[in-house]
Amino acid sequence: MPKDFLSLADWSGSELLKVLERAVQLKTNLREGEPSHSLNGKSVAMYFEHPSLRTHVTFQTGISQLGGNSIFLTGDQVGIGKRESVSDVARSLSRWVDVLVARTAKHDLLVDLASNAEIPVVNALTDKFHPCQAMADVMTMLEHSSLSEIRLAYIGDGNNVANSLTLAASMLGFEIFLATPEDYRPSGEVWEIALRSCRQSGGKVSWAESPEEAVQGANFIYTDVWASMGQESESEARRKIFSGYQVNQKLVSSAPNAWVMHDLPAHRGEEITNEVLDGSQSIVFDQAENRLHVQKAILETLLSR
Ligand code: NVA
Repeated sequence: MPKDFLSLADWSGSELLKVLERAVQLKTNLREGEPSHSLNGKSVAMYFEHPSLRTHVTFQTGISQLGGNSIFLTGDQVGIGKRESVSDVARSLSRWVDVLVARTAKHDLLVDLASNAEIPVVNALTDKFHPCQAMADVMTMLEHSSLSEIRLAYIGDGNNVANSLTLAASMLGFEIFLATPEDYRPSGEVWEIALRSCRQSGGKVSWAESPEEAVQGANFIYTDVWASMGQESESEARRKIFSGYQVNQKLVSSAPNAWVMHDLPAHRGEEITNEVLDGSQSIVFDQAENRLHVQKAILETLLSR
């Protein structure tokens, strides 16, 4: 198993499944009042260049539930590339803490940090991937379905979340159908890895011509913001480009048995309507909760190597 958790593709499908199994166990144990203390005496540095609610709170809470401690640092406090070099930051942190959880604007910086660090590095979102989110999403879907029965329709921007969900489908063996505007598909590199993995896992990744086509026969419908963090200046233009990709009641009523998913934060009224986000088919807060359990399992796995 690699030192880090930067992309789902760094690990094997069976390693990811073990993490998911452990996450389910941790969730049950916590509810039954039997917490694990597997991070006793361990310290985790959290380095964040973008704002965060779910990732920040779930990592810090999870670490403290496991008996560890965490230190939160913003990009401005550390000043990578301005105050000191990537490698000096990574090498210093490696002397003090046991894990680095990092949210960097650019994925390349995360890779650079990881290759200079002696400690495990966890991707807490970059412009390219959001693997912790995708793991929590699979955990949530498995609370309603089995891998071979999942048919996930992803509607909207082929962004970091879409990239990680595409990898998840291809590595764990479920089906994802993406409806995105032509120029906003997931990266070609991700698509190639995904097509290769599908041959082994039995998963399926495909394009739909429209949101309506994607949701036909879907048991999960997923969307994310049209302008991700770092793309704020494109918001206005993207609102026009994605206007036909809203997950609203009309779209969802053609898949009445499908669960609706969103990684949050949501831009209510843009990619998803209030009615759907707050409706009976929505499982968005289960996804948010499962971030806690799955990330604890990821940290335990990295520290037990
Ligand atoms: N695609 C979104 C995900 C936020 C959790 C972003 O990168 O801003």
